[in-house]
Amino acid sequence: MSTDSPKTYSIKNYGCQMNVYDGERMAEMFESQGMSAADDKANADLVVLNTCHIREKAAEKVYSEIGRLRRKDGTSPVIAVAGCVAQAEGGEISRRAPEVDIVVGPQAYHNLPDMVAAVGRGERVVDLDLPGLDKFGKLPARRKQPPSAFLTVQEGCDKFCTYCVVPYTRGAEISRGWAELIDEAKAIVNAGAREITLLGQNVNAWDGEDDKGKLQGLDGLIRALDKIPDLRRIRYMTSHPNDMTEGLIAAHGDVEKLMPFLHLPVQSGSDRILKAMNRSHSRDSYMRILDRVRAVRPDIAFSGDFIVGFPGESDADFEDTLSLVREVGHAQAYSFKYSPRPGTPAADMSDQIPMEVMDERLQRLQAQIVADQTAFNNRTVGRTTDVLLERPGKFAGQLIGKSPWLQSVHVLAPDLSIGDIVTVQITDSGPLSLKGEPTMRAAA
Ligand code: 5AD
Ligand code: SF4
Repeated sequence: MSTDSPKTYSIKNYGCQMNVYDGERMAEMFESQGMSAADDKANADLVVLNTCHIREKAAEKVYSEIGRLRRKDGTSPVIAVAGCVAQAEGGEISRRAPEVDIVVGPQAYHNLPDMVAAVGRGERVVDLDLPGLDKFGKLPARRKQPPSAFLTVQEGCDKFCTYCVVPYTRGAEISRGWAELIDEAKAIVNAGAREITLLGQNVNAWDGEDDKGKLQGLDGLIRALDKIPDLRRIRYMTSHPNDMTEGLIAAHGDVEKLMPFLHLPVQSGSDRILKAMNRSHSRDSYMRILDRVRAVRPDIAFSGDFIVGFPGESDADFEDTLSLVREVGHAQAYSFKYSPRPGTPAADMSDQIPMEVMDERLQRLQAQIVADQTAFNNRTVGRTTDVLLERPGKFAGQLIGKSPWLQSVHVLAPDLSIGDIVTVQITDSGPLSLKGEPTMRAAA
């Protein structure tokens, strides 16, 4: 590391949207300290690796990235390892990689400026406290925001699925307070956002007292955000089936700004495996939740997460997963090979599944998901829908945005701008995106 105080920073995010949100907040903090973003991490004075520990050799990837940060002249930037690998590996990181100056867990990154100053004094710093949600109150105000922004409302998890490290790295479920969230949402909208995705490891477990002291669930928070005039769209992720309350399901039916899209992981279609995973819901109870959401919002699109090759998963169990996937017909879904996480109960279970079997199952599952996603996209052709324009496309005058169902839509619209909501007719579709032609501009 260099001893001058850093002037430029670079943040590399791995993993989930919560890390993207944390990375944005770190950037705002560094900017408020007078630093600026480096054009390339190769010449940044400070590099933050904001890591993820959820699957596969995450720690190994981080160590090789650290190695690559060493410069030709033998020096390296100030290096901070943040996020869930930091929380899980702790001081071990700086023992294995002496060039790491700072190890900071996901609940302590508001201390980064002090830690960087300590590094300037020749110290090495490890801060892995899980002190609740202190950090949010200590971060600078929100500034420029993209049309679609994230807002972390809840962190941590008490569910202890037997394969998952989250309850250990992010700690217990904890909700941010009502007033602070409403204020941050308003600030995000004032800074340019038109859509907010509420984030949490178990976002639908959010609860808190409103300004009148009444206990509210996530649906109450969504209804309050619905009243922010310039906020046009609301989404939330990731949810647990057991926290899909009556009120939240009802909100899907009557809050127009709540987009018709629900990411609700089920992980497996086999009751035997769901039990071994400690999911505390069955295939049938999961399917009944989807039915109830469909009943109030017939055009709802579903997304999910799946794990193949959980210890003991038989061919028949896997077939149950495939049949669930066919039955749901997802608009999109994520699927992963089971990866034993040190310290989790499943890592010690007998009957771990060989890699070749997992590979083959994953391929079959993904083929089904792609087929369903393509079919879903094809069904939107000819429909007229609103698109929130989020970024420029490859061609002159082309903008790319999102449909209400989270599909990417390419629109040729030289007279429109990022942040506009445009009504388009969908003219073409593929597995990953759609094309749309503007019919009229929706009221801003
Ligand atoms: N192995 C594979 N996938 C996992 N996930 C969580 N832990 C593991 C693991 N040990 C997946 C789950 C979860 C998503 C975020 O990552 O599907 O919903
Ligand atoms: Fe992990 Fe299960 Fe909690 Fe999701 S619900 S974060 S998979 S323990």
